[in-house]
Amino acid sequence: MANELGITGYDYVEFYVGSAKMWAYWHAKGMGLDITAYSGPETGVKEKSTYLLEGKSLRILITSAVDPTQYNITSFVEKHGDGVKRWALKVKDVKFAYDKAIKNGAVPVSTYKKYEDENGYVEEASVKLYDDAEIVFSKRDKYKGNFKPGFTKPIQNIKIEAHKTGLKKIDHIVGNVRINEMDFWVNYLNKTLNFETFLEFGMGDISTKYSALLSKVVRSKEADIKNPINEPYEGLKKSQIEEYIDEYLGSGIQHIAISTDNIIETISNMKKNGVEFLEPPDSYYEKLRSENIMIKESIDDLQKNGILCDHAENKGYLLQLFTKPIGDRPTFFYEIIQRREGAQGFGQGNFQALFESIEKDQMQRGNFDKE
Ligand code: FE2
Repeated sequence: MANELGITGYDYVEFYVGSAKMWAYWHAKGMGLDITAYSGPETGVKEKSTYLLEGKSLRILITSAVDPTQYNITSFVEKHGDGVKRWALKVKDVKFAYDKAIKNGAVPVSTYKKYEDENGYVEEASVKLYDDAEIVFSKRDKYKGNFKPGFTKPIQNIKIEAHKTGLKKIDHIVGNVRINEMDFWVNYLNKTLNFETFLEFGMGDISTKYSALLSKVVRSKEADIKNPINEPYEGLKKSQIEEYIDEYLGSGIQHIAISTDNIIETISNMKKNGVEFLEPPDSYYEKLRSENIMIKESIDDLQKNGILCDHAENKGYLLQLFTKPIGDRPTFFYEIIQRREGAQGFGQGNFQALFESIEKDQMQRGNFDKE
């Protein structure tokens, strides 16, 4: 049976970083999100500090260690740099979903826990994902306080001004894994969480002259959860996926795509807020114009903001753009996406242009030639 775990949607993602305060500031200023809750020494949580940032239905937690012996956080950051530790799925019944996943073959990370205070309770349990990442089953609808016990309203009495970005919710989360790991994780998620394989890109489907990748997309259809998994494939030079694995020291989350209802305004304002995006070549828009496509947006506006348009699908079209990696290592980045008329894909018609932009940046990093 599809979705037998009772998954109803994404709940949140959580980053482990060197300084949560700095990362929270960047997400507030650059992404235009609101800091809506905080947990740390001031709220009775001595060992770590966590900021909750929110868009419309988007929740991002950013955590760093305050106590240097919090090795689960510090060793993660030491090894991978700043990155995504976990993503959480809303479920109808945490115990049931967790037990079912374990019975189906998932590897346990945290067994069922109930966090309680005078505002109610939150339930969570988690299972393993690639390397140090994990998937959380979460239920918070019986909690009336700020996010979770241990959190309060933000303690800083400062409003961070930013241009409004209209970021709405998580559209998909993408993993990069080592050679020969893609099918392992596809099978793992399909078997343990009752996901299904939705799209497959084999050799030759996604490649430029220099780099290539294999990709499969698994999803939980009813819950609108989509999880593409990429694996490097032979190319003349080091692919972006290989570069990620080398710099992240392993497999992990490559990007989170966030949806918007007005991508032109979102990207334009994020740029005003100081967020850097990939820059597609002008030739991309010349080609788009020559194709005489029927879209609501003007191609001039798309070009001005560097937004890509994939109309190669049989249903609708999608608009998207990738940020540059947001930290120091060329690992994690965000994608901004707007789906029009029920478009289902991931921008496969844009991969060529995106890859070429990424390769331009890789060349600048000098991290491109194979040994
Ligand atoms: Fe994506």
